[in-house]
Amino acid sequence: MKILVTGGTGYIGSHTVVELQKEGFEVVIVDNLSNSQAWIADAIADISGKKPHFEQFDLADQKLTADFFRRHSDLMGVIHFAAFKAVGESVDNPLMYYRNNLVSLMNILEGMQQNVIPNLVFSSSCTVYGQPDELPVSEKAPIKKAESPYGNTKQISEEIIQDTIKSSEIHATALRYFNPIGAHESASIGELPLGVPNNLVPFITQTAIGLRKQLSVFGEDYNTPDGTAIRDYIHVVDLAQAHVVAIKRMINQQMKQRFEIFNLGTGNGYSVLEVIQSFEKVSGLKLNYKIVGRRPGDVEQVWANPEWSNNELGWKAKRNLDEMTASAWKWEQYYRNKQ
Ligand code: UD1
Repeated sequence: MKILVTGGTGYIGSHTVVELQKEGFEVVIVDNLSNSQAWIADAIADISGKKPHFEQFDLADQKLTADFFRRHSDLMGVIHFAAFKAVGESVDNPLMYYRNNLVSLMNILEGMQQNVIPNLVFSSSCTVYGQPDELPVSEKAPIKKAESPYGNTKQISEEIIQDTIKSSEIHATALRYFNPIGAHESASIGELPLGVPNNLVPFITQTAIGLRKQLSVFGEDYNTPDGTAIRDYIHVVDLAQAHVVAIKRMINQQMKQRFEIFNLGTGNGYSVLEVIQSFEKVSGLKLNYKIVGRRPGDVEQVWANPEWSNNELGWKAKRNLDEMTASAWKWEQYYRNKQ
């Protein structure tokens, strides 16, 4: 049972490869290493005992991608993570985002069509909901106009997939992630942001370890209990396990429709200050932070209604916020000590 994991040396991809291998899948990784490193394939092998087959090339290259799929026409499915994901960067360089995220998806779909590879799991995002009118947000909530080119690539990708599968044998599942944080319990793999982190938890751990002077908390005037923005943080290992459940559902032909969508969140919303408090509790450290103005484009609050995923997919996030922040901190320390 061979599965292609694009972006398999990246943050969510690497954790998913480990969980797939644990369940007996043979994994092929394709990654251009634009935001990850080749040693991660070895770190995966340290955890699972199995080195995944790894090919380094750019999936936006049509010829290389077509050639790859011809050589791997026995794939049972594709889990497609490889994409750019920095919201601010996408505002500054929209064409780079549209080209990378959309062209690679189209090349993959073409390769799947031509070689009759039946199952695609796509990394989507809660960003497609914008600021939802109702909380918690379910998969039935309307898609709001995207706040950024990055968000738009997720919306357009879902549409490209839906249109393509109508005229092919491909089945697809879009998984809409809330805010993945944390790291594998071994601390052998975790999040490795390039340069200054955009996301909250890597910024917290890098501040605590002394790489950054101070965390800026973006806004304390939101209409939330403590005034800071609320998100549904989910442990990356819980998220990774959802991909295994999703691909098995597809392979076992348990889908109710040829295109399915699932929210991957815990159903709990936490504020920025609550995440900081959790980090301080598990690390025993005092974090240097200050409140600053809001970050443009941020929504006030969003958390998942995970009922459909829990009941229909048969998956539920198990790890709590303290386990998430503790594992992120352990990873930061292990990784910096290795340097
Ligand atoms: C957003 C998108 C998500 C996307 C991700 C990619 C939404 C709801 N979510 O996540 O789909 O995959 O970007 O990067 O649109 N914060 C600080 N200080 C910091 C960093 C963050 O206070 O230095 C705050 C933010 O204002 C936000 C929270 O922490 O309230 C989480 O931010 P972040 O980790 O960047 O994720 P999102 O912006 O929610």
